[in-house]
Amino acid sequence: MSVHDRTIDYGDRGSVRVVADGAALAQAAAETMISAATSAVAARGVAFIALSGGSTPKAMGTLLSTDGFRSRMPWQATEFFWGDERWVPISSPESNAGEAIRGYLASVGVPETRIHPAPTDNSDPATAALAYEETIRSIVPAANGLPTFDLVLLGMGEDGHTASLFPNTAALQETERLVVHNEVPQLTATRITMTAPLINAGRQVVFLAGGGGKAARLSEVLDGAIDTQRLPSQMIRPSAGPLWLVDEAAAAQLQRNRS
Ligand code: 6PG
Repeated sequence: MSVHDRTIDYGDRGSVRVVADGAALAQAAAETMISAATSAVAARGVAFIALSGGSTPKAMGTLLSTDGFRSRMPWQATEFFWGDERWVPISSPESNAGEAIRGYLASVGVPETRIHPAPTDNSDPATAALAYEETIRSIVPAANGLPTFDLVLLGMGEDGHTASLFPNTAALQETERLVVHNEVPQLTATRITMTAPLINAGRQVVFLAGGGGKAARLSEVLDGAIDTQRLPSQMIRPSAGPLWLVDEAAAAQLQRNRS
């Protein structure tokens, strides 16, 4: 393990794996996905993965579709969902699912029946959120009463949001529903998002955060006082603890960083 690949223990806030840069981050994300899917398929015959929007998952997808990675991922036995979605048709470049499907999922051999985007094109946001929740309940097996994804990939925005759990928005109060629509006044936008209880039920929950623009907020989230309304990423507390995959630039202000 090089100085540019180390893990920092953040106690009950999880652990932080620091890699060199954006390229190493995309590679670590791709390896994480392959390993989570491979173990799930070995143990249970199928893998359930919730993808995220954002720049690192995009780079991860590009890498996964290349020769060195593509044959190592059990594409045919993996069910894909999204942790959040913008209220746009899937054909839009703004659509998280649309971009992943066009970027790599359509070309690597995932059966269409295993790709489950939120239904943003046929109803209003509240109905779509309910329908997506029902789809998840009907496909993803429950452990401890909640559908349990093998891997939930998340990003963290510079304001501390994750999925579409934005600071001081209604979705943060949700304790029963698994997916809700969320009005985000700061973006003048509507989003569909998994709620913290569903995300936290995941076997493995992994944040991907790269670049210096994330450094101050990441330190607030991990080193600062708990204030989940202002820093929704702090709501993510799966029993195994979240893993933060970050690059050196994003880790630069962490108090426990030691490079
Ligand atoms: C979205 C995302 C969102 C994203 C973060 C980080 O739909 O925008 O799901 O939560 O992951 O904003 O994005 P970057 O990694 O591109 O900064």
